[in-house]
Formats: sequence, C-alpha cells, structure tokens
Amino acid sequence: MEIRLKGLKKHYGTLLAVEDVSLDIPSNTIFGIIGKSGAGKSTLVRLISMLESPDSGEVYYDDKRVDTLSKGELIEERRKIGMIFQTFNLLSSRNARRNIAYPMEICGMKKDYIEKRVEELLDIVGLSGRGDAPISTLSGGQKQRVAIARALAVNPEILFCDEATSALDPQTTRSILALLKEIQKKMNLTVVMITHQMEVVRDACDFVAVLDQGRIVETGNVADVFAHPRNDVTKDFLSSVTNVSESVVRWSQENGHYTLRFRGNSTDEPILSEVANATGALFNIRAAGVQSVDGEEMGVMVLDIGPSADIVRRAIEELVNRGVIIEEEGATGGVV
Ligand SMILES: Nc1ncnc2c1ncn2[C@@H]1O[C@H](COP(=O)(O)OP(=O)(O)OP(=O)(O)O)[C@@H](O)[C@H]1O
Ligand SMILES: [Mg+2]
Repeated sequence: MEIRLKGLKKHYGTLLAVEDVSLDIPSNTIFGIIGKSGAGKSTLVRLISMLESPDSGEVYYDDKRVDTLSKGELIEERRKIGMIFQTFNLLSSRNARRNIAYPMEICGMKKDYIEKRVEELLDIVGLSGRGDAPISTLSGGQKQRVAIARALAVNPEILFCDEATSALDPQTTRSILALLKEIQKKMNLTVVMITHQMEVVRDACDFVAVLDQGRIVETGNVADVFAHPRNDVTKDFLSSVTNVSESVVRWSQENGHYTLRFRGNSTDEPILSEVANATGALFNIRAAGVQSVDGEEMGVMVLDIGPSADIVRRAIEELVNRGVIIEEEGATGGVV
C-alpha cells in the first residue's frame, strides 16, 4: 500500500512537533525516516498511523484519505497496520504464544485458526518451539521477534517500526533487520522504519527521509543520499556511520578543506594519484572510509588540497570529471 502525506502539521502548545511534512512512501518498500531525538519522528508516525490527528494536512493510504475517518472506519482501516517499538510492549503476563494470539483474539478469530496461525508466525520469526516461553525469559532480540510476529498476526499491509532495533546490540540489530527485509518481501509490506541510526537506513531501507525540527530536509533513494548528501543534518548522520568526520580532523593552516565522495567503480581506481600527476596537486588525507550501501561501494575521504588556488581549481575539475562528488568545508588560507 502506498502512503501519501500532504502538508502535515502538529503542534503541542507552542511547540511545532511536525511542520509541513509532505512525503510519498511507495508501496512495497522499506522507507526510513531518520532524525535526532526530538525531531518529531514518533509524532509523525502517530499521525501516519492514525493514532493522532494532524492540526492540518492530509494522509492517504493508496487513494483513500484516512485522517478524516469516523471512529468505526478508523478501526477498520487500522487493521491494515502493524507496529513494533523499541520497548517491545509485550504483555509480561502472557507467554510468547499468547502474546502473538492476542490481536487475533481481539478480532474474534476462531480458536483453531489462531492456534495454527501462531505456530506459523513463530516459524516465520525463527522462534519455533519457543511458544511456551514466558516473556521474561527471552532475550531482547527474541522479544522483538515475538513483537514482529504479533504485529503480523492479522496480515497488515503496513508495518511501522519506531526505533525497533535501538535497544539491541549491533549483531542482533542486523539479524532483526534481515528478518524485517525478508518479511517485507514475502508479505509485500510497506515498512516505515523510524530510526536515529544511519546503519539501520544503510542496511535495511530502500528510501530515506531526513527529519529535522519537524521538517523533511532531504529525501531520496538510500544509495543516492549516501553518495551525495546535500543537507548538513544528513552529512552529520553519515559521518557517524563512516567514522569520517571533519570535527575530529586537524586541518592544515594553508589549504582548503574538502570532503570527497566516491561511489561504485571509482572506488577501485587510483584517482588521487592520477589527478596529482596531471595537475601537481598536493593531497593531504585526514580521514577516509568505505562502506557498502545496497551492494554498491561508497567511499568518503576528508582531505586538504594545495598548494595554490590555481592548481586546486584544476584538481577539483579533474576529480569532478571522474565522477567524484566534492564538498568544500571552507578554506582558511589563500584558496579561493
Ligand atoms: N504528547 C505530547 N505533548 C507535548 N509535547 C510532545 C508530545 N509528543 C511529543 N512532544 C514534543 O514534540 C517534539 C517531537 O517529539 P517526538 O517524540 O516526535 O520526537 P522523536 O523524533 O520521536 O524523538 P526520539 O528520538 O527521542 O524518540 C519533542 O519536542 C517532544 O517533546
Ligand atoms: Mg521517538
């Protein structure tokens, strides 16, 4: 199911939590929404999932407007939605099986069907044979698997994940993301993945929107955004995932500071040597890293370039011709 948001606004008192958000979330994809704490991510999810009404703006599921539904229609439409959270929100008085059965019991489904479906779901999330386990005996990763099974119990078309892996260690995070990707494909789900971790976007999402102070500041296909981020907030998130950050770099006093981004084949080529030979440029590498995004290699390098304005200009031209994306961080010396 496709989700479309038009001009969504939500304020609490004088605080604008969500400010004019318009977004198309294509059907059958994993769409990441990343932002710092307080950016408005959870508020936005509550608006998209009809848990709260916006002050103004519109929410569509396919062609159906859903933010103006009556109470009865709302209950019906909300059946198309599954949700998982950082804190799992499981019922500790029930074992794994009874947690997964819970939404089906509420819908009044037949007992035989529920029992069969629970076993199926336990299998899908990799917990076969653990149905009798009390929740307190499960690890964080296993609890999230139970929560995923419960969210899928009534065959939703949309799955909202609000910081679903934030309480998990990196290895468990990867296994849960892999499970979500598998389930998304198998069940043709539209997954909205809320996170503050760029790793989650890199490893699980097809598209990403960057939310800052209630506004979308950048959006696009994940590989494109990683290769060519345009907003400072996005660049900040990226530097945390590559460990290449200009804030840790000790710059030379004379030369201009640059961030170079390489993607795909250009990561294999000795581009800097070629450009140095061709132009006489001096490259001083301060930090560098490479990562894989959607099967494509992405390199990033923070460096200063000298020795003279003229040579720097020619070097930049050569780099751009070779498909390198360059950001100037601001020169302290004679470079124009
Ligand atoms: N029910 C509420 N009443 C008053 N203020 C709220 C309410 N819900 C959210 N806010 C405020 O709206 C802003 C956005 O909050 P929100 O929870 O959406 O951020 P978030 O991006 O999910 O943050 P986090 O990463 O910490 O979960 C915050 O300043 C928050 O204090
Ligand atoms: Mg939140």
